[in-house]
Amino acid sequence: MPAAVQERLIHPARNIIGSLRLPGDKSISHRYAMLGGFAEGTSRFTNFSTGADCASTLACMQSLGAKVNRTSPDSIEITGVAGRVAPPAHPLDCGNSGSTMRMISGLLAPQSGRFTLIGDASLSRRPMERIRKPLEAMGARLTLTDGHAPLTIDGATLHAIDYATPVPSAQVKSCILFAALQTAGTTTILEEVRTRDHSELALRAFGATLTRTSTAISITGSQSLHAIDAAVPGDLSSAAFFLCAAALFPGSSLVLDSVGLNPTRATLLDVLTALGARISVLNLEEKHDELVGVVQISAPPEGLGSTEVSGALAAQLIDELPVLAAVAPFTSGGIRIRGARELRVKESDRIALVATNLRSMGAEVQEFDDGLDIPGGQALHGATIDSGGDHRIAMAFSVAALRATGDTLIQGADSADISFPEFFDLLDRVAER
Ligand code: S3P
Repeated sequence: MPAAVQERLIHPARNIIGSLRLPGDKSISHRYAMLGGFAEGTSRFTNFSTGADCASTLACMQSLGAKVNRTSPDSIEITGVAGRVAPPAHPLDCGNSGSTMRMISGLLAPQSGRFTLIGDASLSRRPMERIRKPLEAMGARLTLTDGHAPLTIDGATLHAIDYATPVPSAQVKSCILFAALQTAGTTTILEEVRTRDHSELALRAFGATLTRTSTAISITGSQSLHAIDAAVPGDLSSAAFFLCAAALFPGSSLVLDSVGLNPTRATLLDVLTALGARISVLNLEEKHDELVGVVQISAPPEGLGSTEVSGALAAQLIDELPVLAAVAPFTSGGIRIRGARELRVKESDRIALVATNLRSMGAEVQEFDDGLDIPGGQALHGATIDSGGDHRIAMAFSVAALRATGDTLIQGADSADISFPEFFDLLDRVAER
């Protein structure tokens, strides 16, 4: 493998034109890898995420006894353990991936044995109390290190619970669902804000039964899963960088093929439309209950307007907020973000890093505990960007750099590999200079 490029110089662009096919959705790839690794039989996935996070999940599933065969860079065959994992000889290394650590904990809590999960420095700072509480309420024992990883799970026979998630989190919901799948009785999860529902759809695709209302999901345990063949939809959170880039340039025209358009993920399209971008969605189809389609976008000739993101919208847009904030100075009326405190406990403190980096580029920005106010009508200049080793910060500021005056140096650009190793190549392909 070639050495990772730590820094990238981004030149301003004149326009964004072209068509792209995006790599597989990270959230769906994690779930397919976990459930495929847990199911009976051999699953085959195409357009599987090429990011390092999903590679961490595959490696963990392999350590737990699943057989993983990468038949091409984005094609995976995985033979599952049919519901019984093997106690691994070493700690399970979740790398940078909160999804891996939180969701696999749910799979492991009902298994017998002791499991230790570790992660990199960023993951070892992220809150894990949020999975300890529900899993312990079900009867497992989790030992954390000061609320964080490394964490140890002493698996046990669990009992069903009713649980209201205190912060909107699809990872916590999925953790509980994966434990409940193996637990006698009916577990019900109540969520005030509906978070991404890929786990619910994936569980059904692998043959499980669950019921849903607008705020509750119930699953009855002792169900077994069966292998599937699936094509993973393109990642809308990766598409977000290109959609925001195209929205910045009057005269732009971008087509994104086979993008995942699950309604719990597609809020960015509504926000960009509210800002004035012209978006159309074509060829909608369902694949294992996940919506997939072609997205076309062009920027409004008069430029982007203004918008506010708060409440449920902030939770549903959580991964897209860094890039939305990074392009906010180029709107006419600015963007106000509130109710996004969770951004502070992602791979970095994304509120602080967005504010610092926007200021480095010459923007005025006000930081709040749970959001940002970014006035519009601002011009940015090229600067050195501190990505904090956070993939979404590195990519968000590469997009802002396209409209800045002068070049921008992205430090820690290799972090894009976490979710989107193809990012810089694809950006070069559609950015007219
Ligand atoms: C994810 C859920 C979100 C998101 C993360 C992926 C998932 O995290 O930020 O990138 O795949 O379930 P939370 O569930 O912690 O909000």
